[in-house]
Amino acid sequence: MRIANLLVAACTASTALAWGSLGHRTVAYLASLYLTPEATRWTNRLLNGQDISEAALFPDKIAHIPIFAYTRAWHYIDAADDPPRLCAINITRDCLPHTGCVVSAIANHTARVLDPSLPRFLQAQSLRFVLHFIGDIHQPLHTEKEDRGGNGIEVVFDGRRTNLHSVWDSLMPNKYRKRDEWWPGPPGDPRREREEEASFLWAKELFDSDGEAGDVSRECVSDAAECALEWAQEANGYVCSYVLRDDVEGVQAGDLGGEYYVGAVEILDQQVRNGGRRLAAWLNLMADATGDEASDGMLIVQDELK
Ligand SMILES: *[C@@H]1O[C@H](CO)[C@@H](O)[C@H](O)[C@H]1NC(C)=O
Ligand SMILES: *[C@@H]1O[C@H](CO)[C@@H](O)[C@H](O)[C@H]1NC(C)=O
Repeated sequence: MRIANLLVAACTASTALAWGSLGHRTVAYLASLYLTPEATRWTNRLLNGQDISEAALFPDKIAHIPIFAYTRAWHYIDAADDPPRLCAINITRDCLPHTGCVVSAIANHTARVLDPSLPRFLQAQSLRFVLHFIGDIHQPLHTEKEDRGGNGIEVVFDGRRTNLHSVWDSLMPNKYRKRDEWWPGPPGDPRREREEEASFLWAKELFDSDGEAGDVSRECVSDAAECALEWAQEANGYVCSYVLRDDVEGVQAGDLGGEYYVGAVEILDQQVRNGGRRLAAWLNLMADATGDEASDGMLIVQDELK
């Protein structure tokens, strides 16, 4: 992973493609609160002790590097529907086999994490993709084609000119969680620590307010592509029911930092909660699938002997 770390250091200032780092970190931390002890051990070992929220940011950091350009389409699925009249994903139409999309990427990287023929660093890389994409698929505008997921829709948020995609990725989550630092700085920077703290606090609030008492066993885990499509359909539904409810003219009619923001907070909470719970169910299952506790213990010993 040394090469990857260098790449990460070179690219931390890039613009976001996805839920901002606050949203991704919170999904990852929330998932970590629901993990079984086995899944916690398995995840930590595969990530080599890296903070799970930091690991979840990896795909955004490499997406801007030309040799990783092929990963960019994996962050979203461009539903060519017609909001606000009709929201729907058609997987044949919207997920092109030669580029892939967030649905196929979740399936692909889940299979790769579990593929014992792959070298460990590639399994770990695929785990980082899974941590990230299960976040992205819950951002409504990552499931919508219109104006490139809202990137092309110019809007105003708290007096600032921006685009609708950024409003959902970062500006609203940051306002909600009282964050005004848009870049958390290099590793070791106190701003980064504050971002981790803010994410963990959000995750803890969601966890503590979960009526299901930490039980994620009813989340979809049957088939990766099927579950991912179900989550994408659900996120896409919010494009019609809220994000573009009054069409493009609606979001361009006034400052989105007021009433629009207030109404969106509930969706942010719900979608980050869904992402965290589902990611946890996923990791719990993957940890189970990779073997029993006995072999688990042996692996740890072997690692320590190296
Ligand atoms: C989905 O898209 C494909 C390819 O464009 C099309 O042939 C098919 O009829 C669509 N399915 C539905 C249910 O609209
Ligand atoms: C699966 O992921 C690997 C590694 O990133 C990539 O090379 C491959 O093209 C992916 N396959 C699909 C079907 O997305």
